Amino acid sequence: MNIYKVGGAVRDRLLELPVADIDWVVVGASAEQLLALGYRPVGADFPVFIHPTTGAEYALARTERKTGRGYGGFVFHASPDVTLEEDLQRRDLTINAMAEDDTGRIIDPYGGQQDLQQRWLRHVSPSFAEDPLRVLRVARFAARYAALGFRIAPETLELMRALSASGELEALTPERSWKEISRALMEPAPQVFFEVLKACGALGVLFPELDALYASSASGLAQLSLATLRQAAVAEQPLTVRWASLLLRLEAQGIAALNQRFKVPRDCQELAQLAGQYQRQALQDDAPSPEALLGLLQAFDVYRRPQRFEEFVTACEMAVRAENGPRLTKGAWLREAAAAARAVPVKPLVDAGFTGQALGEALRQRRLEALQNMQPL
Ligand code: CTP
Repeated sequence: MNIYKVGGAVRDRLLELPVADIDWVVVGASAEQLLALGYRPVGADFPVFIHPTTGAEYALARTERKTGRGYGGFVFHASPDVTLEEDLQRRDLTINAMAEDDTGRIIDPYGGQQDLQQRWLRHVSPSFAEDPLRVLRVARFAARYAALGFRIAPETLELMRALSASGELEALTPERSWKEISRALMEPAPQVFFEVLKACGALGVLFPELDALYASSASGLAQLSLATLRQAAVAEQPLTVRWASLLLRLEAQGIAALNQRFKVPRDCQELAQLAGQYQRQALQDDAPSPEALLGLLQAFDVYRRPQRFEEFVTACEMAVRAENGPRLTKGAWLREAAAAARAVPVKPLVDAGFTGQALGEALRQRRLEALQNMQPL
């Protein structure tokens, strides 16, 4: 049996980037042999095993063939006679289809090293089309390596176009899609992910609400959304802020639809929804009345969720930066308002005998006074 390092670990070492986790492929062995050596299977009928001590993933060399729509429609063939070259051929991109043996020698039957040098994201073979998730993967790699000068080979973009038009993307599960989307959002140039989806027609399928901005009469809204996301990445903001920044200019309905389509985690959902609903209050120049300001703070439940309001202000700041505005003049003021409202102590009111609704009303009144006493904007 021969064991090789494969996939991202080989690619990133050649790019001189840090390698997070290593995938291994085992050629010339059977499942029984690996089990006898103490490897644990990851699933009942998938030829991937966990190393008994290191916990790394070892996959038996396999070929794959698509038999139906979606992720389930796959048969694979793993046996000791599958060669390394056959295993590499079923992979998505040439830069991901290289192996390294234990002497450090690179096995590269599909031109991965040349494509790395020339900065091409290029598919290995027509079997690329067997997994529609690869449209998202390629867009994600484009977002990750944009600063290195990587771009998508024309023939690969063509294939991505055909896949997007085929209806196959609809078969992706929300969980698999969100996993790629959330990883893409955290890449250094996440806006490139959406530009690639637009270029291959996948945006209209997966993010029709965002795609519609390109046709909207309010000019430049789509570019502005991507520029806001870009600023959030430049400022190294977390996933919640990036998702909210991207969706800031959509109608509430559109934001809700996207949140549901990808079963987005709750913290991301809530921030995007609230931020979309209240962004105008933060972005327009005039100061809201103390009553409106209090309403805004209550909507975000700033007392129990101060971080969420802070992230809202941050997303709005990203939007201002995207428009080359110097800064969100209101940013500091909104933060101050949050602090002032939060500083109103509850205990004296409880001690004074207020309970239930009366306590709520008294608190509201004190917080309003605190906002009225603030320096005007
Ligand atoms: N792979 C593929 N098609 C997919 C998923 C994975 O061909 N839909 C192959 C690629 O060869 C990839 C390898 O499996 O390099 C490992 O996949 P994964 O761990 O998801 O990605 P990495 O390439 O290691 O990249 P990352 O740094 O994003 O983890």
